[in-house]
Amino acid sequence: NVPVPPSHKSVVVRSLTSTTPEERERILKDVEYNIFAFPAGLLTCDYLSDSGTSAMTDVQWAALMRGDESYGRNYGYYCLLDAFRDVFERGDNQKRVFREVVVGTADISFYRKKLLVPYQNGFVNGGLHQLERPNVFIVPQGRCAESLLFSTLVDVIMKEAQQESPPTPVILSNGFFDTTAANAAEAGFELQTFTQPGLGDLFPQDLIGKKNYFKGNIDLVETERYLSEHPGCVTMVLITITNNWAAAQPVSMANIRSVALLAKQAGVPIFFDACRFAENAYFISEYEEGYSKRTIPEIVQEMFSYVDGFTISLKKDGLANMGGVLCFRDKGLFAEKYPDIGFRLKERQILTYGNDSYGGVSGRDLMAAAAGLYEVIKKPYLRSRIAQVQLFAEKLLANGIAVLSPPGGHAVYLDMDMFFYDCDRKPDDFASVGFTLELIKDYGIRAFESGSFAWEWDKKSLIERQKIPNLVRFAVPRHVLSSEHIDYTVAAIKALYNRRHMIPNVQITRGEDIRLRHFQCGMKP
Ligand code: F0G
Repeated sequence: NVPVPPSHKSVVVRSLTSTTPEERERILKDVEYNIFAFPAGLLTCDYLSDSGTSAMTDVQWAALMRGDESYGRNYGYYCLLDAFRDVFERGDNQKRVFREVVVGTADISFYRKKLLVPYQNGFVNGGLHQLERPNVFIVPQGRCAESLLFSTLVDVIMKEAQQESPPTPVILSNGFFDTTAANAAEAGFELQTFTQPGLGDLFPQDLIGKKNYFKGNIDLVETERYLSEHPGCVTMVLITITNNWAAAQPVSMANIRSVALLAKQAGVPIFFDACRFAENAYFISEYEEGYSKRTIPEIVQEMFSYVDGFTISLKKDGLANMGGVLCFRDKGLFAEKYPDIGFRLKERQILTYGNDSYGGVSGRDLMAAAAGLYEVIKKPYLRSRIAQVQLFAEKLLANGIAVLSPPGGHAVYLDMDMFFYDCDRKPDDFASVGFTLELIKDYGIRAFESGSFAWEWDKKSLIERQKIPNLVRFAVPRHVLSSEHIDYTVAAIKALYNRRHMIPNVQITRGEDIRLRHFQCGMKP
């Protein structure tokens, strides 16, 4: 069994600081046992997030060096918008960024070509001046795009409402990421999550009994029912690819196509939360019938052809360290329903993040993200990226540790109900948090509890509680870890499993009621 070939080699390395369990325990106490507050520089392996933690490629660093920090229309602005057109609309990978800007051949004809493109109902409208009908909004990261979209949208909906107290607008989704849910709720939306059942099944079958690799799908039956029972209430359908709420599981093209049709029939715009679009496209190319011969760029183009707009954090599948974008189709349903929203969004973008051509992102980071979008849709990269995550899961399974399988794109999730199966732990014992604390203390490895603590089990209704899984997430940064890191981590988890009865429960000591408390509260084993 020869594994998939590596897709890259290291050319710069960072040495790690060595610490003892006693030293790490002292620091844990100092930071009130909040794993987010533990200094990254004292860790051996950090699986807290795959967001913004990628090692960039040499091409990205080269592009970054060519960035410019002008207040209006820097190089990166043109490159990023051009990359968006190439990747999300045209489905090609022409590396124009590298050729024209990085090598430095961009002359007056480059700019004239960019400014005079006709309107084509794209995510980046006509001329790149974005003055007449703006539809692309650069922001520092994904959650800013969410906040910009949801808060502006609620304002527009409320202003246009004929009634005195209009019904609460609703967003349907296959799964909201925590900041997405919080931003939408804060703006005034009601959220309905319709993840397809079967996430926890080890050998999931779809309705016709075939193996289902796409456990991130939206439940089409529930979606259709809700849309027909609540006409006029739903503002949008938001499909998260891959579905981070549902253990990083991908969404199939068939599911995207079907839900887009349902939304269209109901006159409701459909958006992607597109953070991990390339990983999702790779799963489609590997596991969905009819796609094995299609290129990743073609698959990406088809996926995006079904939606009216999207938000994206470039910190994931932009392979960048920062950046986010909100954009919508120039002539899609969303633009039709809210004809002036582009100007409202731009106004808010300028007020809160900066001039529209950088939106709070440095010109150099825009260049890195533009180049990253071309890097991330290369198949050899995606193959070895996903293989590393799959191998991590397989090694855990081979050691008797239950993980959600098949694993999703960017992370491995431990099934903590199975881990503690003979330990009599209740959801509000927060024993899975205890596990993450022991992992830091004993081995210098940071992972994230994604269960009763993070999803605030103790504050939820009985029905909502049933939807909360008991997981610990190991998010794998892109291009950062070797098999050595993975083997060390598997051995550490195994050692903790062997002494699972000794792992402490955890109490919240401060900040229990703060929104998104896991980032801020204090705890005690
Ligand atoms: N949407 C999804 C699906 C995400 O996974 C994230 C971030 C965001 C939106 C927000 O983007 O961080 O750039 O503001 N997920 C990271 C994670 C933080 O660790 O899963 P952001």
